[in-house]
Amino acid sequence: MEIDDTSSAVHAQSDNDFREALERVVAHRPWRLVTDLEKDESAGVLKYEFVTNDGKENSLIDLVHCKCLFGRQLPKMPKEYIVRLVFDRRHICLVMKRRQEVAIPSSTPSGSKTPSPEEEKTIRVQDVVVGAVCFRLFGSFAEIAFLAVSSKEQVRGYGTRLMNQLKEALKHHGITDLVTYADNAAVGYFAKQGFYSPTASQATKSDSEWHTCIKTGYDGYIKDYDGANKMVCCIYKSVDYLRLQEMRVECTSALWQVFLTKSTPVRHKGLEMMPKRIFEVPGLEHLAPPEENEEPPRSRRSTPRPESPPRQRPVPSRLQVPTSIEAMVSDVIETALSNGSSWPFRDPVDVSLAPDYYQVIRHPMDLSTMKSKNQKNIYRTLDEVRSDFRLMFENCLFYNGDESVYAHAAGVLERAVMQRLDRLEAMAGHK
Ligand code: COA
Repeated sequence: MEIDDTSSAVHAQSDNDFREALERVVAHRPWRLVTDLEKDESAGVLKYEFVTNDGKENSLIDLVHCKCLFGRQLPKMPKEYIVRLVFDRRHICLVMKRRQEVAIPSSTPSGSKTPSPEEEKTIRVQDVVVGAVCFRLFGSFAEIAFLAVSSKEQVRGYGTRLMNQLKEALKHHGITDLVTYADNAAVGYFAKQGFYSPTASQATKSDSEWHTCIKTGYDGYIKDYDGANKMVCCIYKSVDYLRLQEMRVECTSALWQVFLTKSTPVRHKGLEMMPKRIFEVPGLEHLAPPEENEEPPRSRRSTPRPESPPRQRPVPSRLQVPTSIEAMVSDVIETALSNGSSWPFRDPVDVSLAPDYYQVIRHPMDLSTMKSKNQKNIYRTLDEVRSDFRLMFENCLFYNGDESVYAHAAGVLERAVMQRLDRLEAMAGHK
């Protein structure tokens, strides 16, 4: 099989350009910090441990640190409640520890009243709990009871990484959903982690990714709290939560590849609000699933070359007098299609032959578009179809120039079409 080297080179070039541009953007985005956390993880500076109250000394020390962290970061939460849940054997804590230097207060030598400055500076390297999430498993979902990051490390991506570590770990244990009760201050954070308030409309949607928890219902398993917002989040099996940024780059890159290879670049107006589905984004309409009874999209065909023989189409009978506008328009379009000079106008211009066509011509028109407009009864008068023909011929002259072979074909076809239109109008008494 032969490969079109030129076009694949062009696409590769565009893709590389795009990747470079994207990498520049990535380098300057704050979420680049997440990658720094990944580096710390590979270096063993940052680590995660699942801890539960199994009675072991190390576990109890970690749980005490978690309890202190939650107590500090959630001051409105009763301390007894935090202690009860953290040390409850059904709850699990995912603990995020960072190896760092810690100043240990030196024990004051007996007899001296104040420690010397040297003694105060005793530094030790140890794993410090910088974040933790306490949760409980209920069948196929988990409830997050508390989640906190130490105040020194907040807004640096730790909260996101901790959540992603949790999702990735739970995903491998068959957990499909997370649920939590977020107070108003935390709603923003959870929303950024993919949590949302399940409304009645969302609960009834039959999305395959909308898992068992909505169907079986977690209400009844866990308590409702006053003043807190119930928020849920699906855990998608196909997502690698530990390399989300790479996946994002890959997806964006793949989308750009589609743009660069399959479509003419068109500058669309910016989005005013985030659309719910991707095909609602201007320019991505072609990603919409086909509607029922809709014909599959026509494959893009090349515009026939000048030397290609004209297609044989039935010539409309000159004796029959069409009565409705739809029949008259159909008659004139068939007249046009059966004309030997109609070859450049039968289908929309193929961008592979004229890459800049849709940038130059803002209102394209062709016979198949007119035909489909007529099938949808869009034409109300013969004047409307006449102006579409004029638009089609003007576009042709504007793009190709007066001297081109296309302009010649346009002249021949225009005469034939206008004659037929005049005749139809006369027959129907429109003139
Ligand atoms: N409200 C709105 N947005 C918040 C937020 C809050 N309270 N806290 C963080 N965010 C945003 C960040 O700005 C960031 O946005 P960006 O991705 O657009 O830059 C995003 O959420 C993730 O931030 P990140 O740095 O990963 O989170 P963090 O390390 O600051 O941790 C908390 C977030 C909520 C865990 C931390 O602020 C915390 O411990 N808060 C106190 C305890 C708490 O409220 N826990 C939740 C209820 S149990």
